[in-house]
Amino acid sequence: MHIKSAKFVKGIVEPDDLLEEGIPQIALIGRSNVGKSSVINSVTGQKNLARTSSFPGRTREVNLFLINNKYYLVDLPGYGFAQGSEKQSIRLRNLINWYLFDSPYKQKVIVLIIDANVGPTKNDLAMLGDLEDAEKNIIVVANKVDKIRKSDYKKQMQKILEFAGSHKVIPYSSEKNVGIGALKEEIFRK
Ligand code: GTP
Ligand code: MG
Repeated sequence: MHIKSAKFVKGIVEPDDLLEEGIPQIALIGRSNVGKSSVINSVTGQKNLARTSSFPGRTREVNLFLINNKYYLVDLPGYGFAQGSEKQSIRLRNLINWYLFDSPYKQKVIVLIIDANVGPTKNDLAMLGDLEDAEKNIIVVANKVDKIRKSDYKKQMQKILEFAGSHKVIPYSSEKNVGIGALKEEIFRK
């Protein structure tokens, strides 16, 4: 799918009529700072569409980006972020859980982003389990492959494939433009 338009529509923290209109939602979830917002920018080819930061905890709402008037890319806050106030991290966790598991909204697909260099963490495993229990349609994106030492690449990918089980894994780098075509094909297909 060629991207003709991509625009930020709204950040929500509670049920919103916009999501009642039946536009398919493609949600990105992952640890804080793993690069969810960067993946949105790279996949849409717009450098500053979603706000990114080198500090974890940048995205604090459920941010809706309308693509070709046809899909919402949904940028979520990250999990597993230990810094900052406890109140804030509980608020973010509740917001993620509400949108993914307790809201009336169904996602066409959920893109679970992990850090390819760090490898899957306990929190990633817990999130994958929750998504599977909720019978979500899941794709795993291994972002930041540019950071993996060449000699570690095979071993690292093997770990990620084991983690992902039956779900598709896309090696990705928002920074170096790796995997964009493959991800677009997966998320925007009918
Ligand atoms: P929160 O909103 O805080 O949960 O973070 P996020 O997951 O949206 O991460 P964000 O996109 O803000 O990126 C976090 C940091 O990782 C930024 O400094 C990005 O420049 C960097 N980053 C993102 N993708 C890549 C990548 O593919 N390679 C490298 N080397 N850095 C990346
Ligand atoms: Mg973000």
